[in-house]
Amino acid sequence: MPAMTARPATIREPEPAAIAQAARLLAAGELVGFPTETVYGLGGDATSDAAVARIFQAKGRPRFNPLIAHVHGLEAADRIARLDARAARIAARFWPGPLTLILSRRAGAGGVSLLATAGLDTVAVRIPAHPVALALLEAFGRPVAGPSANPSGRISPTTARHVADGLGAAVALILDGGDCRVGVESTVLDLSGPVPALLRPGGLARAELEAALGVDLRPAAPAGQPARPASPGQLLSHYAPARPVRLGATTVGADEALLAFGPDQPAGAAITRQLSAAGDLAEAAANLFAHLRALDRPEVRAIAVQPIPETGLGEAINDRLRRAAAPRDGEGAEGGAAAFD
Ligand code: TXA
Ligand code: MG
Repeated sequence: MPAMTARPATIREPEPAAIAQAARLLAAGELVGFPTETVYGLGGDATSDAAVARIFQAKGRPRFNPLIAHVHGLEAADRIARLDARAARIAARFWPGPLTLILSRRAGAGGVSLLATAGLDTVAVRIPAHPVALALLEAFGRPVAGPSANPSGRISPTTARHVADGLGAAVALILDGGDCRVGVESTVLDLSGPVPALLRPGGLARAELEAALGVDLRPAAPAGQPARPASPGQLLSHYAPARPVRLGATTVGADEALLAFGPDQPAGAAITRQLSAAGDLAEAAANLFAHLRALDRPEVRAIAVQPIPETGLGEAINDRLRRAAAPRDGEGAEGGAAAFD
């Protein structure tokens, strides 16, 4: 593994020369911050054990949680995993987009590192809907392993600056694709077995998937409990701001920061960020992580969050907020905070 050198992160506008440079860096085993429509990813060559190990090292993940293989097209996805008729239909409908599919891996998994799949029989695959991500994946020509580009246990990044602030020393280059349009991570749908399972609510609303699949998806496990042993990524304390988070707030203290939602904003907070004055859940999702960061300031005692409906993208927003509000487990403990990034 190349030595991890501390250096200031280079942020580049995503012109063709920058994308070509990013592809060369990936080929050389380096890590690159790249925009997707959900959150920024910490990209590395998914076929290289060394590059994948570097991702875990950079994030400070105490153990090897499996990573998503990002690809630019269906043919590339099909080299990694077998897409049966049901998976092909869902992929055709929702890719490129904020959906990750858990599929049975092919023997060899199209070269994807065993470390990236954590030795499972399944593999997570996604075609992101961001022109810069797609251009990078096409230029690189191999799958890119990409967890969210934040240190383990911290809030996911939705701007290039967030990536530089959190992981600047570990990435060779950050491609600046602007603010992430969706703002919460992809929905993770397990299609590896006979019964589809929603493993993580995310940027694609449950109802859209249920309509396309023609079945009700069983609820995602309550925050803190893995939906199944094969879903290592649903542990409680995640997306943790440093300040405590208070949910369902209808009033706010003068020493609190307010994360507001909708027109009925209580007065008196030390600082306020509005997710969506109109009560628009897509707008709220896009603002969520940047606003949480902005409110997580030393001078406030806590972050109070107004109630947010559980419908549509509200499910993913509330899932992330419950994790942010959860008691912090000891790092590295079984089921602990940093086991999932
Ligand atoms: O929006 C996103 O999904 C972002 C962008 C960068 O694409 N990526 C992201 O990656 O959120 P990450 O590593 O933070 O989350 C991947 C999730 C984790 O919950 C992980 O446990 C789960 O996918 N996962 C990966 N492979 C799996 C597998 N074979 N079976 C079950 N869950 C899996
Ligand atoms: Mg993450």
